[in-house]
Amino acid sequence: MKKAFILNDVALLFVLLLLGGTLQAQVAVQHKLSPVDKAKIDSLMNQMTLEEKLGQMTLFASGWDVTGPVVGTNDKKLIMEGKVGAILNAYTVDYVRDLQRMAVEDSRLKIPLLFGYDVIHGHRTIFPIPLGQSCSWNLKMIEDAERVAAIEATAEGINWTFAPMVDIARDPRWGRVMEGSGEDTWLGCKIAAARVKGFQGNDLKANNTLLACAKHFAAYGAPQGGRDYFTVDISQLTLYESYLPPYKACSDAGAGSIMTSFNEIAGVPSTCNKWLLTDLLKKEWGFKGFVVTDWTSINELVNHGVAENNKDAARISLNAGVDMDMCGKTFLDYGTELLKEKKIGMDRIDEAVRSILEAKAMLGLFDDPYRYCDKSRQEKEVMTPDHLSLARKMVSESCVLLKNPGHMLPIPEKAKTIAIIGPLGDSRKDMLGSWSAAGKWEQSVTLLEGIKNRTGDKTEIIYEKGCNTNDNDRSGFEAAVKAAVKADYVILALGENSWMSGEAASRTSIDVPGVQNELAEVIVNTGKPVVVVLFNGRPLAITKLARQPVAILETWFGGTQAGNGIADVLFGDVNPSGKLTMTFPRNEGQIPIFYNVKNSGRPYNPADSGAKYVSRYLDGPNDPLFPFGFGRSYTSFIYSNLAASVDGHKINITVQVANEGEFDGEEIVQLYIRDKVGSITRPLKELKGYQKVLIKKGETKTIAFSLTTDDLAFYHPDLKKYWEPGEFMVFVGTNSAETLSTSITVE
Ligand code: GLC
Repeated sequence: MKKAFILNDVALLFVLLLLGGTLQAQVAVQHKLSPVDKAKIDSLMNQMTLEEKLGQMTLFASGWDVTGPVVGTNDKKLIMEGKVGAILNAYTVDYVRDLQRMAVEDSRLKIPLLFGYDVIHGHRTIFPIPLGQSCSWNLKMIEDAERVAAIEATAEGINWTFAPMVDIARDPRWGRVMEGSGEDTWLGCKIAAARVKGFQGNDLKANNTLLACAKHFAAYGAPQGGRDYFTVDISQLTLYESYLPPYKACSDAGAGSIMTSFNEIAGVPSTCNKWLLTDLLKKEWGFKGFVVTDWTSINELVNHGVAENNKDAARISLNAGVDMDMCGKTFLDYGTELLKEKKIGMDRIDEAVRSILEAKAMLGLFDDPYRYCDKSRQEKEVMTPDHLSLARKMVSESCVLLKNPGHMLPIPEKAKTIAIIGPLGDSRKDMLGSWSAAGKWEQSVTLLEGIKNRTGDKTEIIYEKGCNTNDNDRSGFEAAVKAAVKADYVILALGENSWMSGEAASRTSIDVPGVQNELAEVIVNTGKPVVVVLFNGRPLAITKLARQPVAILETWFGGTQAGNGIADVLFGDVNPSGKLTMTFPRNEGQIPIFYNVKNSGRPYNPADSGAKYVSRYLDGPNDPLFPFGFGRSYTSFIYSNLAASVDGHKINITVQVANEGEFDGEEIVQLYIRDKVGSITRPLKELKGYQKVLIKKGETKTIAFSLTTDDLAFYHPDLKKYWEPGEFMVFVGTNSAETLSTSITVE
C-alpha cells in the first residue's frame, strides 16, 4: 500500500487558484460579452413579462425533421407573442428567415430565436459517423470537419448544433455508440474539445460559427443491457473517472450549452439532478452556458416515477438547473402557476433566461438577427469541392484494416475483373449513417461507384447483391457465386443498414445480420481472393467472418464520399492508418468488454490456460476479437528500444518504430501506463498519449513522449484527484494488446 500523496495545503491551494484562473480565462474567451450586449440583456430582463421569460426557456420542433415524439407543433402564434426561445430542425435561409421575422418583427420585444439542429457529422456534406472519425485519431481533421459542418449549417440558417455527443460507451449493443468516440475517456476528452473548437471557432459572432451543445449529460452511454434510454447505475467513482471528463472537456473548451440525458444515474434522472446540473456543472466546473433538456425528457420524469405530473416535472427540473425545455412545453404551461405557488423562484427563472439571452448575444443575434440568413452563402458555401475533398480524406483515415492475410490488399493492378457482392455494395441509402442531418443520401457515393470511379474502364466490374442484410433469402447466392467465379478478385460488402444503429437502435446480436455470413462462406469457397468491406455503426462480433481466409476493412458509414474514400484505401492510394476506439467482442457474452479493465484478485493468465479458479469463462476466451487501438497497415511497423526515465515529476519515454514494409504509412503510436500498486485498484492499462506519425518505407523514427505526475492522477473514493508515488509500468505499442513495456518508479 502506498501513502497517499497530497501537495501541502498552501501549495495545493495556490496551484488550484492558478489552474482555476487559467480555465476561467479559457471559458471567458469563449463566453465573452461586450458592454453593449450586457446592457441589451439587462434592458430586456427588465422589460420581459413572466410569460415572455418562460417563452425564452421553450424550444419547439419545427416539425420538419422530427427526431422524437412531437408534443406541441411549432405554433407560429406563440413565436409572434414572443413565447418561444428557440426552434429545432428548421433550416434553409428562407424558412429560418420566415420564422425569425415573426420573432424579431412581430413580437413585442423582438428577441431573436436560436435555431438548433443535430449537426452530428456534417450538415450537407456528411462525414463518416463520429465513431468512425474517432478511429482516425486525427484531432485536427476532426476539428476541421466540424468547422466545415459549421460553415454549411450556418449557411442554411442554423446557429446551434446539438453536438458533440461525448458519451463514453463500452457496450456495442447500444445503437448510439455510432455518435461518440468510443470507450476511452482520455481520447474522448481530446476529441470532445476538438469538436467544440471546430463548431465554435474563435469568434461565436462570426456568421459561420455554431453554438455547441455537449451531450448527453451524463453517462447516457452506460445503460444496463445496452438498451437505449435504460437505467444507468454506476458508482460515483466510475462516473468521475470514466464518464464525466468529456463533458468537462467541453465545458472547459467553452461549449455554449449542454444537454441533459434521458437516463437516470443511480436513481436520479439527469434532467432533475440538482447535484449534476447545478452543484457540479455550474458551480464546481464553472460552466457558463445554458442547460437544455433532451426531447421531452422533463415530461418523461413522470415515467421515471419521480414526478406526479408534467407540472411537478417542470418544478423539479427547473429547480435542478435546467434552463430550456426541449419540446416539452412544461415551463410555458406551468411556470406561472409554480411561481404563484412559490414552488419555483424568480431568481432561478431569471438566471435561466439570462443564460439563454447571453448565448444569443454571443452569437451576434442582437446585432443582426438575420446574420445566418445570407442566401449567397447558402449557394456558394455548401458541398464545395474542398468540403467534399476533406470528407473523402476523412473516409480513408477512418478506415481500419482488421485483417489482410497474404497481403490481399491493396487490390493488385492485375485484377482485371472485380466482383462486388453483398447488400451494402451499392446501397446509397446506407452510406450516410444515422444522424445525417440535412445530408441527401441521393448524393452519396456507393462502394460500387467509388470503385468504378477509381478503375475507369480498364477493369470489368460485376455487381451482385447476393442477399439482403436482414432476412433468410438465399435466392441471390447462385448469381453471386457465378459473379465470383467469373472474377479474379472479389469484394464482399457486408454489415448493417444505417438504421440498425443510432437512437432507439439497440441490438441483442451484434454480428452481421441475416444470411451474410453464409454468403461469405459460399463466396470464399470459390477460392477467389476475397476482401470484406464492412459497413456498420458499432463494433460487430464478426467472429465467423474473421475465421474466413479473407481481408477485412472496417469502413463504418463513410458519409457523402464513402465509396471514393474506401476505393482510395482498397487500391492503395491511401495506406490505412485507422485504429479502433472501441473494442470488438468475440460475442455478446463478453459484453461489457473494454481494454482498461482491472486485474481482479484472480486474474486469468493465458500462460496457465488450465487454471480453473480464475476470472474466465468456461466456453470462451476473455480477450476480444479486436482490441482497443487495433488497426493494421499495408506496411509493417516494428517497435524497439523502449526507454523511460524519471526526472523529478517528469517522465520521459522514447521508442523506435521502423517501417519494414513496402509502403509509406502513418502509425498511431500509443502510450499506456499502469499504476502497479495504489490505495485503490487501478486499470491494467490507461491510454496517456499517442502520436500519429508518417514513417516512410525503410525509415526508422524515434518517438518521444513526456508525461508529468498530473498524467498519473486518478480519482479516489473521496472524489479528489491526485497521483500516488510508486512503480508504474509504461507500455508503448501499435494497440492496447501489442506493446513493449518497461517500468519506472516515481517518488
Ligand atoms: C433526440 C436525441 C438528441 C437530439 C434531440 C434533438 O431525442 O436524444 O441527441 O439532439 O433529440 O433531435
